[in-house]
Amino acid sequence: MKLHAMYWSATGTTRKVVREIANVLSAHLGGKVTVHDFTPPEAREAAYSFGKDDLVVFGTPVYAGRVPNVLLPFLKTIAGGGALAVPVVLFGNRNFDDGLIELCGLLEADGFHTIAGAAFVGEHAFSRTLAAGRPDADDLAEARDFAVRIAEKLTHGEGLDTPVAVRGETPLRPYYTPRDRAGQPVNILKVKPKTDPAKCDGCGKCAAVCPMGSIDPGDFRTVKGICIKCCACEKTCPTGAKYFDDPGYLYHKRELELGFARRAENETFL
Ligand SMILES: Cc1cc2nc3c(=O)[nH]c(=O)nc-3n(C[C@H](O)[C@H](O)[C@H](O)COP(=O)(O)O)c2cc1C
Repeated sequence: MKLHAMYWSATGTTRKVVREIANVLSAHLGGKVTVHDFTPPEAREAAYSFGKDDLVVFGTPVYAGRVPNVLLPFLKTIAGGGALAVPVVLFGNRNFDDGLIELCGLLEADGFHTIAGAAFVGEHAFSRTLAAGRPDADDLAEARDFAVRIAEKLTHGEGLDTPVAVRGETPLRPYYTPRDRAGQPVNILKVKPKTDPAKCDGCGKCAAVCPMGSIDPGDFRTVKGICIKCCACEKTCPTGAKYFDDPGYLYHKRELELGFARRAENETFL
């Protein structure tokens, strides 16, 4: 069985968990892990196809309770070819809602066969306090334990006939909508990060990590394309020059930090 770790991960939390699971699977099943990181825009221009000898640990974050919608056109192009898949979503301590069940359905529709699934917690993209530092050592231990149970399931060959059943609803519920104090929807779709010119030293790391390729390489202060609020630029900037000042966005961020401060649990399905 050829092992693959395939993921989109703007701030690196999905990457950590997917790679941990794939590495432990390779230790148990043998063989090297091939990594397919489709975070950079150019990586989503390539064609990906798999076959019956492949096992793919496949990860995306949860955005608004679902698979990030900007990834859907690309995800639909992948040819599963009967490969086994382990869908994994990463959520920022609120809830994964229908993100995992949606990813399972997308992979099944691509021709993968899903044999296990998981939702893990990672530091919220918007925040440095919400699930700060997660996935942490305990989360990664759970990821390793999950991988061991997948390896056992494969070795025993039991329960492999039907797609994995995970928590979530079908038909999929609408995207999660943040609300303001008056209960009105907060629309952050058009919000973009700003740059403090006094702090920006022009290193260009923000443009290099933007998964939408939206930061102008000729002027790092300009976001010329769409912003999905992944916060990779803000979290990567070595001088703290990137920031958001939209009142609706900041209200939603604070509301999440206050309302979802408890330690959310990872959930695994086999
Ligand atoms: C636009 C946006 C929407 C998000 N929506 C949710 C959500 O509905 N529930 C949740 O728990 N976390 C949510 N998060 C947090 C992400 O799931 C979390 O930061 C994830 O770990 C990021 O993955 P990455 O580090 O691999 O990029 C959201 C993050 C962003 C940027």
